[in-house]
Amino acid sequence: MRQHVNPLSSNFNQIERIPSLREMFGDSQLNLHLDIGCAAGEFLFDLALDNTSWNYLGIEIREKLVKNAKLKVIEREIKNLYFIFGNANNILDHVQGKFIIKNLKSISFNFPDPWFKKRHYKRRVIQPEFINVLSNSLQKGTLIFIKTDVKDLFDYMDSTILSNFYFKTLNKKDFDYSKSFNPNKFKTNREKYVIVNQFDIFERIYMKI
Ligand SMILES: C[S@@+](CC[C@H](N)C(=O)[O-])C[C@H]1O[C@@H](n2cnc3c(N)ncnc32)[C@H](O)[C@@H]1O
Repeated sequence: MRQHVNPLSSNFNQIERIPSLREMFGDSQLNLHLDIGCAAGEFLFDLALDNTSWNYLGIEIREKLVKNAKLKVIEREIKNLYFIFGNANNILDHVQGKFIIKNLKSISFNFPDPWFKKRHYKRRVIQPEFINVLSNSLQKGTLIFIKTDVKDLFDYMDSTILSNFYFKTLNKKDFDYSKSFNPNKFKTNREKYVIVNQFDIFERIYMKI
């Protein structure tokens, strides 16, 4: 399986049909969380099985991972989990995808690809234009969670989000996870690897104001 996909490739200009929330979920009225760059979706499976009072949506650019995840959802008859294949930036900026942003309670960016070379920064999923797209359509109070083990990427994401005046940082110490999309603090695959290897984790929570 290819580990790195260039999100700016023209292969991702066309997006797949995005079903309505009623088609995606058993109960479309539940709180909705979006995980961007969800890989094979294990984290979302853990969440969806544990918290049946939330709906979970994953967007991932590696098609095979999404196909397998979708099959698993059907096999296990999970009604609060859905996966979309494609470049999250293109999907959420498309007329078809805008309704997703409007309905979100929270979004997570867990260990996004760092794209270390400066000439590749444009491939990073968090971009000023993308943060504008989010701030234009997110409801007030919607949360964004970022997590990475790469300090330089953390600083870049943090300054990109905070240069948009519609986001403010929440103090993690005062944050009540029990009411969030992840009350039992499940870890993603990358996070488990980072913990085993004792790397630092940089994380922050923002609220749309
Ligand atoms: C380093 S992995 C982290 C996976 C997972 N979030 C975790 O924490 O274990 C980053 C994931 O983001 C996906 N990705 C990168 N850019 C993307 C984009 N623009 N849209 C959707 N997925 C993307 C990659 O294919 C990869 O699966």
